[in-house]
Amino acid sequence: MPYKLLFVCLGNICRSPAAENIMNHLIDRADLSDRLVCDSAGTSSYHVGSPPDRRMTAAASTRGIKLQGRARQLQRSDLKEFDLILAMDRDNYQDILTLDSSGEYRHKVKLICDFASHHREREVPDPYYGGSEGFDRVINLLLDACEGLLNDVVRQLEVGQD
Ligand code: 4NP
Repeated sequence: MPYKLLFVCLGNICRSPAAENIMNHLIDRADLSDRLVCDSAGTSSYHVGSPPDRRMTAAASTRGIKLQGRARQLQRSDLKEFDLILAMDRDNYQDILTLDSSGEYRHKVKLICDFASHHREREVPDPYYGGSEGFDRVINLLLDACEGLLNDVVRQLEVGQD
């Protein structure tokens, strides 16, 4: 069974699809596609069915990363289904935990910035109402965080195999 990662933001059109596709890019490069699977979702239903925001798509393309997928809303069943759930900011984190009233899955939910080693930000800033530089910052921050995340997950999988 592959290890399943879910990236979560508010709209699922900017930050979490960028994180999902960056992670898939790193997973492909590491030849780990059969061991790790990624998806993304939004805590809101605002943009359900929409493709990623074109400003985010443009920022990702400058790093050779194509954004694929359509927005969907986070569901309670995702908490059971995924092994690790990465929130972009603290609001997302709280909203995810609101779906987990018993606290059963709390240990699976993390802030993605906890895995970044070259950036000091604790949250991925919402770029939606800002200019293009905000989207570039999100890509740089997510590249850093996803590299750290991949190293961490690979270590966990190696320990699990012993
Ligand atoms: P995301 O960005 O959560 O990174 O997908 C946003 C997308 C849409 C809205 C806010 C943030 N919105 O308010 O519609």
